[in-house]
Amino acid sequence: MSEISFRPLTPITGAEVEGVVLDDDLQPAVVACLREALLRYKVLVFRDQPMDDARQVALTDAFGGATAAHPIANGLRETPAVLRTALSEDRPKLAEAESGLNPLSGAAPRRLRTEWHIDSTFVANPNAITILRGVEIPPAGGDTLFADLEALYAGLSPSLRGYLDTLQAIHSRHNPSPVPRFDGKSAGPFVALHPLVRVHPETGRRSLLVSSVFMQAIRGLKPRESTLLLDFLLDELAGRDEIHARVRWEKDTLVMWDNRSVAHAGPVDGLMFEEERIVHRTTVVGDLPCGPNGFVSRALVGGLFEAMA
Ligand SMILES: [Fe+2]
Repeated sequence: MSEISFRPLTPITGAEVEGVVLDDDLQPAVVACLREALLRYKVLVFRDQPMDDARQVALTDAFGGATAAHPIANGLRETPAVLRTALSEDRPKLAEAESGLNPLSGAAPRRLRTEWHIDSTFVANPNAITILRGVEIPPAGGDTLFADLEALYAGLSPSLRGYLDTLQAIHSRHNPSPVPRFDGKSAGPFVALHPLVRVHPETGRRSLLVSSVFMQAIRGLKPRESTLLLDFLLDELAGRDEIHARVRWEKDTLVMWDNRSVAHAGPVDGLMFEEERIVHRTTVVGDLPCGPNGFVSRALVGGLFEAMA
């Protein structure tokens, strides 16, 4: 095996990986090494990895099985496991949001404006791993932010952690795609009930399963109690810079993150530059999150986010 090395992005989260070529010759021993590293660093950044969509899907399969591109949105027709995101198509929505009274407006709290989230928590089994590849990248802007959800949990008082360990939250998405799915599956709505604290299925470490995008309320609390507690947790998520890592993109940069232990946000500055930014996403199928008290996530509306093969 070639010499693989990891250059940490911060003391706790993220690493740039050197000494690996993610091509057809990727050996199982290398995949195993990278999987171990992903559990340790949570975010792995690979530079100069030119590949086509088929290769990205094969890579995703090697890490545990590619899902369809998204539970709601269509993937590419030729490679349905790939979700293409072009900033030029999202900018009108961003610009409209900037001028209106909605979560993205300049007056909204930072916890909402930055849209910190875990991918697809509106399904009962969010993907375990997300893989994102830079296809067209601006000279500056469009960075992605990551937050270590295990550090977020560990930074709370033991008393509060003990209480959060017992709770569940409702996550939902009710805006089905206007375009029918190519694969004929339902495009939503989706509602899932998750533990507020999840136990990582491979490491056993606890993290907060929180998102400013899809998380609606904490089960069993009065609305104001739920809102205040979630606002506090999301303020911690968005405001504790010491648990954040920031990835700057280049064309052919590939970033792989453990969707079970980090939240992410971005691009947060899409209206501050004019160039195009295109990224292609694939996701590795995930299992049902489990809480410290044994509570297992379940779908309240809609199906699971399953592997394609
Ligand atoms: Fe995302």
